[in-house]
Amino acid sequence: MREGLIERYREHLPFEPGDRVVSLLEGSTPLLEAPLLSERVGAEVYLKLEGANPTGSFKDRGMTCAVSAALREGAEAVICASTGNTAASAAAYAARAGIRCAVIVPDGKIAMGKLAQALMHGAQVVALQGNFDMALTMVRELADSYPIALVNSVHEFRLAGQKTAAFEVVDDLGDAPDVLAVPVGNAGNITAYWRGFSEMGTAPRMFGFQAEGAAPLVLGHEVEHPETLASAIRIGRPARGVEAMQAVQESDGAIMDAYRFMAVREGMFCEPASSAAVAGLLKYGHGGAQRVVCVMTGRGLKDQQTAMEHHGGTIIPCEPEMAALVQAVLG
Ligand code: F0G
Repeated sequence: MREGLIERYREHLPFEPGDRVVSLLEGSTPLLEAPLLSERVGAEVYLKLEGANPTGSFKDRGMTCAVSAALREGAEAVICASTGNTAASAAAYAARAGIRCAVIVPDGKIAMGKLAQALMHGAQVVALQGNFDMALTMVRELADSYPIALVNSVHEFRLAGQKTAAFEVVDDLGDAPDVLAVPVGNAGNITAYWRGFSEMGTAPRMFGFQAEGAAPLVLGHEVEHPETLASAIRIGRPARGVEAMQAVQESDGAIMDAYRFMAVREGMFCEPASSAAVAGLLKYGHGGAQRVVCVMTGRGLKDQQTAMEHHGGTIIPCEPEMAALVQAVLG
């Protein structure tokens, strides 16, 4: 039987046998070779397919831990600020646990699929007329004053869960890659990978990619009004600072090119934020690495609107007649 990541990695996680575990069988995601991307980058590139997690993003790794820990502490409700994926994941795990969930999202700035997920799982969805950074500041304050467990990646259990992705990469490759490329928003995930690799006694170089309009770690200062098409990483004030990271920024144009390249050439439909890491690799290269792992943090289907606006294809209308069909198909 397949097991969730708390069962699989219990000796590395702060849970005891007998603790109630809330799991949707997250983790154990595929590591896929990317031949065309490898050719363009000039190194062996593998994709860590985190969109294969139950709610379609890497957030489920942290959420199984955060919600299980919240239950253990007797919480009856969880809350998070989110650009969408954390909200979807928190809502799903809270539903599974039978507790309430509130998600605070920047109004009008989250992908529709993620919003649909949060609503379907029965979360209380609050659309804040402000950005993610404001939402996070406010939920932190709220969670300090009321009996609601905060499940953002400022929560240690989130990082504990997310570090297991590094264990899986080392298991699958037999060793750590030379470089790990990952999109960065709040910098929780890159911090978690670094921890995971460190606990395995390895130290790959960490390449963190931010979108040009939302690149506080590259610029070295906060960005008050972050803007990018990659809405998942529209964050101007990351909650986690990171060591051991090289951060670069990529333009929305290059991110959209990488987004299409991955879908058209590699058959991998990821969300725009994930393709920020691919865009960065294509622009800055492998940095002398032989083996690179690029983390595909979320599934493309979550953000159909961006896909429909940037696919570059056409839809051919057709009358229900054979001649018209032949014309439409063969041109
Ligand atoms: N990729 C995707 C698809 C994300 O949803 C996020 C973050 C990141 C990358 C960046 O990860 O914040 O740990 O550096 N999404 C958060 C959310 C902010 O609310 O879903 P990070």
